[in-house]
Amino acid sequence: MRDLYMFLTGPGLIVALLVFFGGLAARALLYVQGLDWKLDRVAYIPHFKQGLKGAAQSIYRWLIPFGTHGWRKSPFFTVGFFAFHFGVIVLPLLVAGHAVIAENLLGFWLPHLPPAAADFFTLCAIGGAGLILARRIALPEVRHLSTWRDYAVLGLATLPLLSGFLAARHFPGYDYWLLLHMVSAEALLILAPFTKLSHIALFFMSRAQLGMDYSIKRGGDYRGTSFPW
Ligand code: HEM
Ligand code: HEM
Repeated sequence: MRDLYMFLTGPGLIVALLVFFGGLAARALLYVQGLDWKLDRVAYIPHFKQGLKGAAQSIYRWLIPFGTHGWRKSPFFTVGFFAFHFGVIVLPLLVAGHAVIAENLLGFWLPHLPPAAADFFTLCAIGGAGLILARRIALPEVRHLSTWRDYAVLGLATLPLLSGFLAARHFPGYDYWLLLHMVSAEALLILAPFTKLSHIALFFMSRAQLGMDYSIKRGGDYRGTSFPW
């Protein structure tokens, strides 16, 4: 057990992080490479500065809860989405258990949340995942488009939250929860570039492309910062 722990917090973790960051960078590069030279890039290059403003605006608006018509149209999903995403993005960086592992690997201590705050955000994120799942099942238009992969990805993303919480609260079977936590989190990191979790990078690429499109090609110069979404 100790050897497995040492592997998962040492070489296993490093490989998982390399696949995650390397794989996502490759997906972003392939996205740009896949743009059509005539249809897409022709206008982006000469109007780059104006396009960048549109790209930044488009990304920023979608990252604000209720910042777009799309978010305002589905308030329950929006609450679930932001509670879940806040957890999966912020908790890995700020949980005390992770600071211990980072200190062993990097040699210095990172700031971390008090345990009660970490527990609170973890429970919010798990609740958020529940709302996202409920919406996927309850809305016929979403249910019909869903495949087993959509459920699997949501489950995979929720497992580290659930197992991390049970381990941190020292639920009976602590070693088991901790092991499940590390294995599921590293599987998530390794699978991200090859599944729809690649949206962690591609969200920014496609929103930037749409923002550039609307600010360069579709009269965006006259519209200023107000987008039609
Ligand atoms: C900065 C990073 C991220 C951004 C900007 C982002 C953004 C998004 C967006 C826009 C969606 C689609 C929502 C819709 O259906 O309208 C989505 C879905 C999803 N995201 Fe992320 N995400 C990020 C990071 C993550 C991370 C780190 C994870 C997991 C570890 C994650 C897990 C998911 C899952 C599971 C879904 C699917 C939800 C469903 O079943 O409908 N995301 N994300
Ligand atoms: C997607 C990545 C990850 C997420 C979302 C995540 C999330 C969490 C959460 C929510 C907690 C519990 C916080 C609390 O309620 O106090 C936690 C604890 C912990 N996590 Fe992670 N984690 C991730 C990756 C990892 C990895 C890769 C490792 C190690 C290889 C790891 C090791 C730990 C440890 C040791 C604890 C503390 C358990 C204890 O207190 O005994 N986590 N994590």
